[in-house]
Amino acid sequence: MDALETIKSHQSIRRFTGEKIAPEQMSAIEDAIAQTSSTCFYQFVTTIKVQDPAKLERIAALSGEQDHIAKCSHFLVFCLDMTKLMHVADIKPPFGFRFIIGGINDCSLVCQNALTAAESLGLGGVIIGGYKAGIKEISQMLKLPQGVVPFLCLCLGVPDKEYLEEQKPRLPRSWFIMDEEYKDKFNEQELEQYNAQVQSYFENRKYNQRSDNWTNSTKKMLQGTLSPATGVLNYLKEQGFDFF
Ligand SMILES: Cc1cc2nc3c(=O)[nH]c(=O)nc-3n(C[C@H](O)[C@H](O)[C@H](O)COP(=O)(O)O)c2cc1C
Repeated sequence: MDALETIKSHQSIRRFTGEKIAPEQMSAIEDAIAQTSSTCFYQFVTTIKVQDPAKLERIAALSGEQDHIAKCSHFLVFCLDMTKLMHVADIKPPFGFRFIIGGINDCSLVCQNALTAAESLGLGGVIIGGYKAGIKEISQMLKLPQGVVPFLCLCLGVPDKEYLEEQKPRLPRSWFIMDEEYKDKFNEQELEQYNAQVQSYFENRKYNQRSDNWTNSTKKMLQGTLSPATGVLNYLKEQGFDFF
């Protein structure tokens, strides 16, 4: 599919047929991963492809029982990897905040490129941030050495077309795309209209229907128990990173 059409057609896919992604398709996704822009040309993202069913089951459980992880074809883990830079330059842990920012940026870009490439091939997937609850055990499972930390993951597979939905409606454009300078576009009337659209999406979708809207679901997320940031901070320190 044409690049813009692919990007505009995005929807997260959490139901897969169980077929494996063909090696030539995986190779095309790897081309997209390899050519992604890179902070300072450091090229410090390492992508680990997990297919072992036992590992996928365990990662799914550690990520808050996300069954789509257990059932995907390939689970990609995008890591900030300082080891190559340690070999070529005289740097040692602790690695400061600028590497953390660079690593988060680069892992995000690689992840989105991999997802877009997969979608352009008729495959599908969903980005996974929920792995963080199990970051330490996942890190041990993948044998990550000092200087390597996972910042984002991606489930990929062949979409079960039965479960394709309408796209999730987004906020009004003017709320988040602006000309020249920042303008506060928050507007109760537009919010009400948007909430009605989201409500209709949740109530009428084919599967996992619920009565909810954007305001309520956002509030629930913000007030609920989000992934433990202190655990991630401590883990980053153990892996040789710090916030200076
Ligand atoms: C950084 C990031 C982390 C995410 N983590 C998860 C996750 O752990 N599990 C999940 O099912 N979806 C996850 N998502 C997918 C979002 O829920 C999804 O993109 C959003 O609801 C919009 O839906 P859409 O992608 O179908 O348009 C994540 C998305 C991003 C960008």
